[in-house]
Amino acid sequence: VTPIAVLGGTGPEGLGLAMRLSAAGEAVVLGSRALDRAREAAAKVRTVVPGGRIEAAENFDALRQCDRVVMAVPFEGLDPFLDASRLAGKLVVDVVVSLGFVGSICHVRPVPGAASVGELIKARAPEALVVSAFKNIAAGRLLTAPAPIEGDCLMCTDDAGARDEVTGWVRRIPNLRPIDAGPLAIARYLEGLTALQINLNRRHRTETAVTILGLPPPV
Ligand SMILES: NC(=O)c1ccc[n+]([C@@H]2O[C@H](COP(=O)([O-])OP(=O)(O)OC[C@H]3O[C@@H](n4cnc5c(N)ncnc54)[C@H](OP(=O)(O)O)[C@@H]3O)[C@@H](O)[C@H]2O)c1
Repeated sequence: VTPIAVLGGTGPEGLGLAMRLSAAGEAVVLGSRALDRAREAAAKVRTVVPGGRIEAAENFDALRQCDRVVMAVPFEGLDPFLDASRLAGKLVVDVVVSLGFVGSICHVRPVPGAASVGELIKARAPEALVVSAFKNIAAGRLLTAPAPIEGDCLMCTDDAGARDEVTGWVRRIPNLRPIDAGPLAIARYLEGLTALQINLNRRHRTETAVTILGLPPPV
């Protein structure tokens, strides 16, 4: 298997995921628009995960090298990556949320042409195996690696194999529980939940996590 590319890996969310995936034993290629920034961020991952297999690359080089890709760029920067031929056959883990503020309130901003970012990626790259996940895990919690993470990782996808793969990633992050939230059409609700969490975080000056009660134990 090829390493996991983390596009936008210099931002807090991508950097935190790169740390968590590296700590989970995955080889990671950390991507940025600028190679020197990617190298700096990869060095940070190495300090948290000594001996971790982490390399740095420009985003599109990282994408070329890897069959598994984490999209961790802001929504505004996503479009150039939505290229059907570049993403065909790849596992695409989408953590992107389109957010904006109206006054002091955080809202999901409509995604042109789709009901969610997850569905937009799938519409633009129908042969990609898209999983929307980690949208409800705040960067600050990822960045405490290798400390355990409280809460659940909700994910949704139309592809069972891709779900199993990402479930495996989550199981290797200490304490984090993977939750199969259903098909990709659920991504809009995961994105709405992110907006709710940001409003809670601002109101209560904290970084919230999500736990779903009442689910049967995993089989
Ligand atoms: N932060 C959180 O707690 C959190 C939680 C859940 C989901 N998310 C989602 O995860 C994604 C990343 O979040 P973040 O907070 O890490 O974001 P960020 O810091 O704003 O951006 C991540 C990285 O993307 C690159 N970037 C910025 N603008 C870009 C553009 N126009 N085109 C291409 N690349 C660009 C930058 O890297 P270079 O300059 O090195 O290229 C930046 O370091 C977002 O979509 C966000 O909605 C974040």
